[in-house]
Amino acid sequence: MRSAMRLCSGHMRRLLFVHHTPSPAMQAMFESVLTGARTDEIEDVEVTVVPALTAGAADVLAADGYLLGTPANIGYMSGALKHFFDGIYYPCLEATQRRPYGLYVHGASDTTGAVRAVEAIANGLAWQKVRPPVCVTGQPTRADLDACWELGAILAAELTADS
Ligand SMILES: Cc1cc2nc3c(=O)[nH]c(=O)nc-3n(C[C@H](O)[C@H](O)[C@H](O)COP(=O)(O)O)c2cc1C
Repeated sequence: MRSAMRLCSGHMRRLLFVHHTPSPAMQAMFESVLTGARTDEIEDVEVTVVPALTAGAADVLAADGYLLGTPANIGYMSGALKHFFDGIYYPCLEATQRRPYGLYVHGASDTTGAVRAVEAIANGLAWQKVRPPVCVTGQPTRADLDACWELGAILAAELTADS
């Protein structure tokens, strides 16, 4: 993705980035994902960033794809991201099928339950996972942050590709 490739769809696509970012480790992941999503190598994709506690159905309906970020909390996604899904599920169920999404999860030791929970809801919405989730435990390494960058860039590229 970091090559000289430039992707251009010809018309503007919108990528909605819904995240819950309660710590410096998660802030580092958030910034890497956002930098990837906004890479100059991909044109005509506008990234809208909305915290999970304030994102709503209008944001989701107005977007063409989704980036999701959450900590693992008690074996599940954060309450903030769950609150987001609880509010948008039925209003968006018909209109957003097959739209692409990407997920990153940060935990202290085990992100399995959080990933399973997000994927279950995304499957219910019929959103398409464009790559496996980026899962990080502990302090993010350079390689972890590179994987976050790629997640953002791949989502943006996906919107360009399907236009
Ligand atoms: C209430 C609560 C529950 C948590 N449960 C889990 C968990 O089930 N699995 C896990 O790996 N981390 C868990 N954590 C750790 C968070 O995922 C972690 O604090 C968050 O990703 C931010 O990372 P940091 O504290 O290393 O900066 C929990 C944290 C809190 C506050």
